[in-house]
Amino acid sequence: MDLDTALERLPKVELHCHVEGTMRPATVVDLARANGVALPTEDPTELYRYSNLDTFLEVFWLVQSTLADRGDWARLAYESVVDGAEHGLVYRETFFTPARHLDAGQDLRDIVAGLAEGLEAGERETGARVALIADIDRAYGGAAGLEMVRRLVELRRDDCSGAERVLGVGLDSTEVGVDPTDFAEAFELAGRQGLRRTSHQGEETPPSFIAAGVDVLGCERIDHGLSILADPELTRRLADERVPLTVCPNSNIRIANRVERLELHPFPAMRAAGLLATLNTDDPALTDLDLGYEYRSAQQAFGYTWDDMVTVAADAADATWLDPSEQQALRRRILDEGDRLRPDAP
Ligand code: ADE
Ligand code: ZN
Repeated sequence: MDLDTALERLPKVELHCHVEGTMRPATVVDLARANGVALPTEDPTELYRYSNLDTFLEVFWLVQSTLADRGDWARLAYESVVDGAEHGLVYRETFFTPARHLDAGQDLRDIVAGLAEGLEAGERETGARVALIADIDRAYGGAAGLEMVRRLVELRRDDCSGAERVLGVGLDSTEVGVDPTDFAEAFELAGRQGLRRTSHQGEETPPSFIAAGVDVLGCERIDHGLSILADPELTRRLADERVPLTVCPNSNIRIANRVERLELHPFPAMRAAGLLATLNTDDPALTDLDLGYEYRSAQQAFGYTWDDMVTVAADAADATWLDPSEQQALRRRILDEGDRLRPDAP
């Protein structure tokens, strides 16, 4: 087997992927038509034009706005699992960001139930497993974030359909000019209620935001963390504490426009510094990416060997929110398949 095929088939864990960012272009068009959302164009190469995080988010928000009911969420979730599994996905903790839908009158209960229904169908078909992370949208502010966490806590308490799949909360959307402290109360409630915590930090902001994610919001994982190496002390600390960073190298080029070429991405330097940095796609369908490409392109650009790539894949098991015995089993599965799939030299 050649290296690219082996990388495509290697079992992969993904911890930074927005379910809305997996929406197939054909599904965007279908849902927009069905739900009366006007698209400026139905051609994805025209629709998906952006030059930084904020212009990307305008497209992301438009795509999000096509999701009108439980069935739409179920379709999206189902397709996201099937599409991921085609590239070796075996376990994912996926974000959904319901602020705009809640603001428009949808109930979190229906969104979670729809997502869970679609994920379950996708799991049955592919054997992959998927959990959920409810992201707070920074653009909607701290009060809306707190309200979402309160509603999530109610759904869990009432054992509503799919609520057990939501392992934790996250924080995404625009970074610059937003104070992480605004979300402290929402994160504090989430932590008190046993929800796990992560947040997008350092995609377009300095390391002090990454530190705030850990120290102010109590996050045990950081999404992106791209700027971390600018603070050697924080780098050492997160490496020592094994705080995972869910890094999205190709997204940092295509969405945030923070890195010119993959060869210049700090991912290898992050790992060399001892950080538990994992590989992820972020918004694959909106950026014309997939998890297989993420691994293949990283291998080439960073000059990684097969064993390096298997180690990167296996380390992601430790960064999950599975319990330790399940983390171990997932790691073992990746290492065993890594042995079985070992490509022919060179
Ligand atoms: N929402 C979807 N993708 C995102 C990203 N890369 N950063 C922040 N918010 C997002
Ligand atoms: Zn993201």
